[in-house]
Amino acid sequence: FGTPVILGIETSCDETAAAIVTRDASGMPVIRSNIIYSQIDDHAAFGGVVPEIAARAHAEALDGIVSAALDAAGIDLSAVSCVAATSGPGLIGGLIVGSVTARAIAHGRGLPFIAVNHLEGHALTPRLTDALAYPYLMLLVSGGHTQIVLVRGLGAYERWGTTIDDALGEAFDKTAKLLELGSPGGPKVEAAARGGDPKRFALPRPTRGETRLDFSFSGLKTAVRQAALKAAPLSAVDVGDLCASFQMACADVIADRMMRAFARFRAEYSDIAVPTVAVAGGVAANETIRQRLDEAARKAGFTLVAPPLRLCTDNGAMIAYAGLERFEAGLVDRLDTPVRSRWPL
Ligand code: KG4
Ligand code: ZN
Repeated sequence: FGTPVILGIETSCDETAAAIVTRDASGMPVIRSNIIYSQIDDHAAFGGVVPEIAARAHAEALDGIVSAALDAAGIDLSAVSCVAATSGPGLIGGLIVGSVTARAIAHGRGLPFIAVNHLEGHALTPRLTDALAYPYLMLLVSGGHTQIVLVRGLGAYERWGTTIDDALGEAFDKTAKLLELGSPGGPKVEAAARGGDPKRFALPRPTRGETRLDFSFSGLKTAVRQAALKAAPLSAVDVGDLCASFQMACADVIADRMMRAFARFRAEYSDIAVPTVAVAGGVAANETIRQRLDEAARKAGFTLVAPPLRLCTDNGAMIAYAGLERFEAGLVDRLDTPVRSRWPL
């Protein structure tokens, strides 16, 4: 009895993370600690995440990160009720490191284990930060995912749209690479776009107006490359204008897709006067995209919830929180639950 205390572990990409999440006396979720080691420097020289390097770095860092999460929460393992670990989707080597570590702790301590879907972690984050009630709409825009998800309840997710090629963050990263802006691409493109003319280059708005809710960004990326070749050699002003034009095209596409999703949500839930849309993923940091999304939400009568950025990007607290909801619902997993590199919500 008492309030459950969940240890959450995240190792699906290039963040080694662990956190302790529980509830306070009134039942509100509380993040007791949230420790993240970013491997970004380990991969910088390679221009992207190298799976083998990531797996080794997780293996080296994870024990220390788990200890640090326990220390920061002021507890030891005897106070933990349950261990949750990201078990997919993601890079298989990292997933194995996180899952095996979590299962070893659970086995050694006789604790229940929960295999968390990474996307569920993102999808439930607004309940951790803003105590959002079900149902709500979710836009997940990261380096690996671009999805519109209807969150009806715990374990009840409907994917309404996804990307048929590149993820949005990936499109930013590839644009940065093409324009030699360095990495991580998203923030570099946004910085370069500041003061640039978003109307200077006429770039396409792929999928705009389509009834399906899917995304596509590879055509946009190709159009940026062609515009760059045509305008070469590029001055700093050219690069700024191109980045601003690209960013505006992305924001337009997001707004168009979301307006359609809002209408569909309204059709399904005509009784909810002011529904909520939540955003997560690293691209949620982008001011232009956030603004356009906020504009679109307001126009459709939705409230936009954007968790603090450190909880929008990969972290252990979101996994611990998903574990908490699952634990409370009695949804524990067997210790031989396998990891899955692909695992749709
Ligand atoms: O959620 P995240 O930290 O990691 C995963 O992909 O899981 O997202 C990282 C992605 C990268 O592609 C990065 O370039 C992009 O988010 N990103 C941004 C910005 N900050 C990060 N994209 C556009 N504008 C930004 N300010
Ligand atoms: Zn993620």
